[in-house]
Formats: sequence, structure tokens, C-alpha cells
Amino acid sequence: MGIEHHFLDQRSASDERPDRNLALELVRVTEWAALAAARWVGRGEKELADKAAVDAMRLVLETVRMDGLVVIGEGEKDEAPMLYNGEQIGDGSQPSVDIAVDPLEGTTLTARGMPSALSVIALSKRGSMLDPGPCVYMEKLAGGPEVADLLDLDRPIGETLQRVAQRRGVGVGDVMVVILDRPRHEEGVEEVREAGGRVRLIADGDVSAALLAVDPDSPVDLLWGVGGTPEGVISAAAIKCLGGQLVGRLWPRDDEERRAALEAGYDLERQLTVDDLIRSDDCFFSATGVTDGDVLEGVQYPPHPAGAGATTESLVMRSRSGTVRRVHARHDRAKLRAIAGELLG
Ligand code: FBP
Repeated sequence: MGIEHHFLDQRSASDERPDRNLALELVRVTEWAALAAARWVGRGEKELADKAAVDAMRLVLETVRMDGLVVIGEGEKDEAPMLYNGEQIGDGSQPSVDIAVDPLEGTTLTARGMPSALSVIALSKRGSMLDPGPCVYMEKLAGGPEVADLLDLDRPIGETLQRVAQRRGVGVGDVMVVILDRPRHEEGVEEVREAGGRVRLIADGDVSAALLAVDPDSPVDLLWGVGGTPEGVISAAAIKCLGGQLVGRLWPRDDEERRAALEAGYDLERQLTVDDLIRSDDCFFSATGVTDGDVLEGVQYPPHPAGAGATTESLVMRSRSGTVRRVHARHDRAKLRAIAGELLG
């Protein structure tokens, strides 16, 4: 029997041989997307930056042997010519997987030359990924393994902070919460401050923030607030590999969205864990830095020889094995141009 038959949750307990790790192929996908997006850093063109990342991601993703279905992509078919929700990717061979892509997570960060933009992809067994449907936003609370059981969206955030401080054996003033800087979070920010906690406000990029929050060695303890549902699912895939927890609750923006979500069968009360967002123990994740951040270094252009090279840093992980790799790569821009034209610069 071929090894592929055992792939993605289909193996028996007695048959735990090593098999193909798709994450090692996905790293090329996010590297190309990051290299393409990096050409647009600081140029004030977020749509063009995103398009470059999508085009480059697509070129390499097509080389991965799989039967892939885009569950989280660039939107609906009419507005996204590539990597749209429902698009089939790959040559149709096993494994059958759901795909979540965010070719450029932090379009505005990239356009403005700000930190922590990433290119990211996650894969898991077909049918295992939460399809966000009409639910654009999700309330999220994420933290590392040590505080995973304390995460509850029904408890006031200030109280959670106190419990986190107690668990860590520190004062509340030592607890840091990362929050997207949005008017909708003003009350929550106040609550954290009143409880004595500290807040790190970020302009964009809550996938990167979730990665930081679950890392026990980072200066951030929690991610809190309302961000994109797609980003929530992608973060869940990463957390299944890294450890920690993210609880999320769908957050309709208005009555119309609420009605559409309820009609489509979504439970708007339920706190979803990473196991609800990705219902498989075998998922794959790769992220490559576009701009420098706390989690990943962005694309660099070494000065010597001038204009010839680029370097990337990627986080490459699989939940089944729990292996987390940091992949540093050196790229030859002239050779890449010969393969992909001006896209990768
Ligand atoms: P883009 O890359 O699409 O610009 O998204 C960045 C982001 O900040 C996400 O990280 C976050 O989940 C979402 O936007 C928040 O949405 P909004 O900017 O509408 O509050």
C-alpha cells in the first residue's frame, strides 16, 4: 500500500511511519509570495502588493501534488481571478486538502513599509477547516500553553488578566495584551488598563500577533479583540503546530450579516477553539516575513553584490509531528527573474 494512503488522519495507530510533510513544499509557496510582495514595500500601493503576492503564490502552489480546495482565499470568484474561495488547486492526486491562503497578511503594513507583514498558507484534511462563509469578523482571545485553559470570551478581559498574572506568578502590570488599534476596541483597551495591564496596539496583522501571544518566550501574553475570521482560522492552524490556544466567536457587523450567518447555520454564541477551527490533527503551516517583525525577519536585499540577492525567513510547521522549523533562504534574483520574470524582482 502506498504511503499516501496513510496520509492525513487515515493511518491506523500502529502505522505511524514518517510520511510526506507538505509544509516543506509550502515554504516555497510563501517565500515566492513574500519575495513578490517585498518589491512593493513602502510604495503606497496595497492592491498591487497583494496582487504580486497572489500571482507569485499561485505559480508555486500549482506545483504541489495534491487535490486542494481553497476554503479561505482572496474572496469570491468574480472579484478574485486567482485563489478564490472554492477554487481547485493541484493535480488532483492525493491528499485531498482544504487550503487557507493569505498571500499578503498586512497589505497596508507593506504599502507603508511598516513591520510584521507576512505571507502565509495553511493546509489540512479536506472538510476540516472552518469555512467563514458570511462571517467576516471574529472575536479572538489567544495565549500560550501555560494560560490556555484561562481563555474565555465571556469573562471580562480585566479579570482574565488577573488570572493570567496569578498563573504566571507575576503582577498584573507584567501582563501585556496585543490589540488591533481600532475604535471598536476602545472599551476593551480601557478595561485592560484599568485592571493594571499593559497594551501593545498594532495597526494591522493579527496572525503575527497570535503567533507572538502563544510564544511563552515573547513579551506578549495575550491577543485580544475582533479581527478577520480567515486570519482566525489561519492562526488556529499555526497554534495547533506551536501549542497554546485561541478561542474565537463569530462577530457579525450588522443585522444583515447576523441573519445571513444564522441562515447558513453558523452558531454565533459558541466559543470556537483551535480544534473547532481546524478539525484535524494533521495540518501544515508556512509563513514567510515580508517586512521585519517580532516573529519573522522580512525580505532582505544584501548589499553585496548589489541587487543580486535576497534572503527570506520562514516558519514551517506541522501539527502531527509538532516540528517547528525556521527556514532561512538565500535567493538569486537574476535566476528567479529568468524563471518568473519581473514578479520577484
Ligand atoms: P489585510 O492584510 O487584508 O489588510 O488585513 C490585515 C488585518 O489587520 C488582519 O490582520 C486583521 O485580522 C484584519 O485586517 C482586521 O480587519 P480590519 O482592518 O477591518 O479591522
